[in-house]
Amino acid sequence: MGESDYLFEQFRVERGCLGYLVADPGTRQAALVDPEVEMVEQMLDSVFEHGLKAVYVIDTHTHADHFSGVREVRKKTIAKLVMHREAPASCVDVRVEDGDRLYLGDLSLKFLHTPGHAKDLVSVLLPGRILSADALLIGSCGRTDLPNGNAVRAYHTLYHTYRALPDDLLVFPGHDYEGRKHSVLGEEKATNPKMNFGGEEAFVRYMERENPETLTPVYQLADALKANMA
Ligand SMILES: [Fe+2]
Repeated sequence: MGESDYLFEQFRVERGCLGYLVADPGTRQAALVDPEVEMVEQMLDSVFEHGLKAVYVIDTHTHADHFSGVREVRKKTIAKLVMHREAPASCVDVRVEDGDRLYLGDLSLKFLHTPGHAKDLVSVLLPGRILSADALLIGSCGRTDLPNGNAVRAYHTLYHTYRALPDDLLVFPGHDYEGRKHSVLGEEKATNPKMNFGGEEAFVRYMERENPETLTPVYQLADALKANMA
């Protein structure tokens, strides 16, 4: 199966959070990935319009910076909530770890544990595409100074896990801050400054000390974390 053989749709809310709808055309089974709370209605409309059945809803990690819509999706569909096994939320139905796969008909969703921005962060590998969440952003990576973040793990994620993946993979991140919809992994390897530090020490120093000072305070951090962990 190639990247054009399955249904793929990107959703965006104003602050730049991105969510995804992925479906197998044969069985009409669908998965919703990172539905931000304001995006849920639009996503479910699309599920309905395409005649799909939402069987999985995936939160790639415990979001600290926005409200997850997975609880709304679970109320309105039969979708099972999928998260990494270390996720603290009690309503998780399917807990995955590195290398696990789920299937929508013949369409494989492979989970890669890519911690750093959050310890329970999984990237979702699809044919021809990777949903990189906040592990790898276009021209950047997710911050590591929030609760559950760890810059050393982020280094491993970017410089080992992501460097080992094929250059032609299309990268669809969890946020876009510059209005680009996706990138290509080979381009990120070559030009993303966060993937081009001289070594672990320099990367970690930057992420832990310099980076937090340049970042804006997170919108409703404590409230979002509490709600998304429940
Ligand atoms: Fe995040």
